[in-house]
Amino acid sequence: MKALITNRHLISRIVNLAFGKSLSSNGAEFKDVPIPTISDDEILVKVKAVALNPTDFKHIDAISPPSSIVGCDYAGEVTKVGKNAASVWKVGDRVAGAVHGGLYPDRGAFAEYLKTDSDLCWRIPAEIEDTAAATYGVSAVTAMHALNARLGLPWADDDQQNTPRTDPKDRPTILVYAGSTSAGLFTIQLAKAAGYTVVTTASPHSFDLVDKYGADAAFDYRDPSVVDKILANHPNISSAVDCISEGVSTDICGRVLRPNGGKIITLLPGAKSKYPGVESELVMSYTLFGRAFQWLPPVGPKFPALPEDRKALVRFYSSLPRLTATVKPPPVKLEGVGFDAILTGLDKLRAGKVSGAKLVVKMV
Ligand SMILES: NC(=O)c1ccc[n+]([C@@H]2O[C@H](COP(=O)([O-])OP(=O)(O)OC[C@H]3O[C@@H](n4cnc5c(N)ncnc54)[C@H](OP(=O)(O)O)[C@@H]3O)[C@@H](O)[C@H]2O)c1
Repeated sequence: MKALITNRHLISRIVNLAFGKSLSSNGAEFKDVPIPTISDDEILVKVKAVALNPTDFKHIDAISPPSSIVGCDYAGEVTKVGKNAASVWKVGDRVAGAVHGGLYPDRGAFAEYLKTDSDLCWRIPAEIEDTAAATYGVSAVTAMHALNARLGLPWADDDQQNTPRTDPKDRPTILVYAGSTSAGLFTIQLAKAAGYTVVTTASPHSFDLVDKYGADAAFDYRDPSVVDKILANHPNISSAVDCISEGVSTDICGRVLRPNGGKIITLLPGAKSKYPGVESELVMSYTLFGRAFQWLPPVGPKFPALPEDRKALVRFYSSLPRLTATVKPPPVKLEGVGFDAILTGLDKLRAGKVSGAKLVVKMV
């Protein structure tokens, strides 16, 4: 099958990491590789659509060992079913999810076929197109990881806990920094589903967007007095998800939480709270897949298998077919049809040219 395969050796990856950008192109190329073989617990999927994430180009530029298949988010059709998965899946079923792309020679979404654990994916409801279904990958599972698995907010599928708090002043408030990112739009929606008031930051051109996805208040993150403005209106915030985790973002979150203390979830290594009483914790969506791994192998930090994280992903994806009426996909922007559109889309993400939309590619 055809797949997008990484080819950078360690020195080139470390140089790119040190400079914060790719100094030479072609860190990945389309190659013919074997169709993955599946275990009894896995399914094989013919990929019909993929969604693009910043992590995809970061893996190509700096993180992935050579010979890895790139790509995480997909939607497609089941073409083979492992023995233990036969009670749940059959050939022809529509399926979507995220896989740990950019690490393995036989597992990644930017390919004609992919394999996945049969319980780490979700059944696409008939009314949802493949292009929209593909967007419920890394960004969506990260929102769940941050809010439900780490900050302990009630789950969207937990009807008992989600009894609406009728008086808005009784609702706890959370800060979602960078709410117009794909991760931010899912985080806003899951926090609202948990009964929280959501305060977010975004560029003013994104205020309508975050409002549409449920944010109660939006502030311009470039405004030098953004912290004072948030605190003047929302003085009791004690939890935050920093959906950008770069530059001053974690510092702004920390200053908003400082009066009450609390916890910030960050999404990139290196972003840390420096305020006493304000804890910060990095989440990596890859720990949801239940396998130990090393980031930037063979020299980067090692992450152990976290069975509780895996259980969280199983719960999220098994409930998602019932939740798509309240947890909407981000605005979908079709980048094109076919493998080449993956590369043009990744270049746009790399250049920071994508705002308020999820780039999606249809596969032929
Ligand atoms: N740890 C994990 O597991 C994990 C999971 C998902 C994502 N991430 C990381 O989280 C980040 C966001 O990913 P994504 O896919 O959600 O992003 P995305 O959808 O591509 O984000 C695009 C948006 O980012 C906003 N933005 C850009 N620079 C910003 C800045 N300095 N401060 C605030 N907002 C800024 C822009 O908003 P405006 O146009 O409104 O300015 C733009 O709309 C990436 O770095 C990604 O690698 C990590």
